[in-house]
Amino acid sequence: MAGSGEDFNGVPREILPGVSVYANPDEVARGAARLFVDYAWQAIAKHGQFFVALSGGSTPQLLFAFLASDDFRGQVDWAKVHVFWGDERAVPPTHPNSNYGMARRELLVRVPIPQGNVHRMEAEKPNIGRAAHEYEEILRKHLELDDRGFPRFHLIFLGMGPDGHTASLFPGPRVTQQTSRWVSTPMVAKLNARRMTLTLPVLNATHRVLFLVVGAEKAEALRVVLKSKADPPLPAQMVQPREGLRLFLVDEAAAALLAPSAPDRPAPAKFKPTGTSLGKPGKRS
Ligand code: 6PG
Repeated sequence: MAGSGEDFNGVPREILPGVSVYANPDEVARGAARLFVDYAWQAIAKHGQFFVALSGGSTPQLLFAFLASDDFRGQVDWAKVHVFWGDERAVPPTHPNSNYGMARRELLVRVPIPQGNVHRMEAEKPNIGRAAHEYEEILRKHLELDDRGFPRFHLIFLGMGPDGHTASLFPGPRVTQQTSRWVSTPMVAKLNARRMTLTLPVLNATHRVLFLVVGAEKAEALRVVLKSKADPPLPAQMVQPREGLRLFLVDEAAAALLAPSAPDRPAPAKFKPTGTSLGKPGKRS
């Protein structure tokens, strides 16, 4: 992690409206950290607090390292920041696969955020369905509702898998806008694991959503999400905030198939919701 936000030299290029391409994952993370700071300032100035949902997986690790660094940590009024999660694995917070655990190690113990402002998903609880209801009550306590009764975050970070999944919304019939739930607990067949996740209507009620997508293994899915039509649409494709902003911060490797010269072609059959692979073995699942 080189230099400070100020000598920021990785000026991104906008390859499509709302899609910024950075040289590498480091620059993507630094760009995301700058936006975090900007959006926190704006939300705290307007609402007195900043409600942000963090994504899981490995991609946000660099972002957390930047936010915890001397260059960025002091730019955020952490006492007015409330942290939530977009999804969680059904493992305890000390487990290596815990999204909360990673964020705690890389960010939360390194910044002066009050413990009461950290709202993790307790997806390891034996009754995960009740834990989901409990999380909905936490959202209800803190967040304003949109005109459809869904909680509005100021910012939601999302990642994307090589199969086009986002948060823990995996390709298939369960991903629907037609739900009144705010938090669901899908059983993910290909992982043989249960997850807890914000639902699509909540993702689409946000003021802003920032997708961080890096790596060549995601180029095909990113092309489909941004330039093609999958039937049914991929979960990442269905994230379209109703009254909000959707931005993609991607690296050159992930953007490889987005070039205007790249031929438009239909979504490959592999994006049909059957047992598509989830990327390299050994990734945090
Ligand atoms: C999770 C995530 C998931 C993640 C993608 C990308 O809990 O796994 O929320 O949606 O963002 O799988 O993961 P990587 O960043 O590890 O590629």
